[in-house]
Amino acid sequence: MIRLAIRVRHQDAELALAELLALAPHGVEEVDLGDRVEFAVYGVPGELPVLPDLEAAIGGALVEVVTTEVADDWAERWRDFHKPIDVGPLHVRAPWHPAPAPERLDVVIDPGQAFGTGGHHTTRLCLELLLELEPAGAVMDVGCGSGVLGIAAEKLGFGPVRGIDHEVASVAATTENARVNDVPFGVLRHDLLTDGPVGSAQTVLANLLRPLLLRIARDGFAGGGTPQNLIASGLLETEADEVSAALCDALGLQEAERRVSGEWAALLLVA
Ligand SMILES: C[S@@+](CC[C@H](N)C(=O)[O-])C[C@H]1O[C@@H](n2cnc3c(N)ncnc32)[C@H](O)[C@@H]1O
Repeated sequence: MIRLAIRVRHQDAELALAELLALAPHGVEEVDLGDRVEFAVYGVPGELPVLPDLEAAIGGALVEVVTTEVADDWAERWRDFHKPIDVGPLHVRAPWHPAPAPERLDVVIDPGQAFGTGGHHTTRLCLELLLELEPAGAVMDVGCGSGVLGIAAEKLGFGPVRGIDHEVASVAATTENARVNDVPFGVLRHDLLTDGPVGSAQTVLANLLRPLLLRIARDGFAGGGTPQNLIASGLLETEADEVSAALCDALGLQEAERRVSGEWAALLLVA
């Protein structure tokens, strides 16, 4: 088992992460090294991205590539990497973590090959903003990944919940996680870049990168629908003003709240 780490400057981290996730959909470990950010993936030789692919995708942003052999306990280390998180009443955990006390809302997420253990700043920020809303009404989880946001919404009392993602692995992971959590969740494969806009809902959750959020601002929602609440994340704090203005102008929304964690930001936009 090999650990392949790429190191980039902070200002290149978003681009590098987006490209690396496309090359390594099993998930990426993020380590802050001070002046640089390290993104690491684990795999056997042949499964991991190769240097020419990395250079083609991330190119000039690469500062360093480091590969190390990982001992045979890699699976345990990988599992150790996923810690359960608590956000308000929600306890988001992997299937191998113990169940929480019965008064907690247990959200069991096996990310499979999809993004979304709940541990990433952007996911957590979305969950925090979701807790600010009256828990009722339809939800659209755009870029649902593992389904963590939509499943958490169901557990809080929102519904019905639908979601889309362009990755087959995300549709599979969301379907399976919804089954394990015993919540209804209608999920479809849909690429925002090629399949056109997606349908709206009372609450839209969109943990996407800046270009896709700007795409939503440009294209709107199918049938011209507009959410009452739009939680948008996956953007850097430095991008928040631009993305907020674009979405508010296009959809007639107002920014009600902005939260920041690490270098990431999330927006709550309301009608
Ligand atoms: C940052 S992850 C968010 C996952 C999960 N919702 C969460 O909050 O943890 C972004 C998701 O958007 C999906 N995505 C990226 N580009 C997309 C596109 N063009 N159309 C639809 N989904 C896309 C990715 O596959 C990924 O699952």
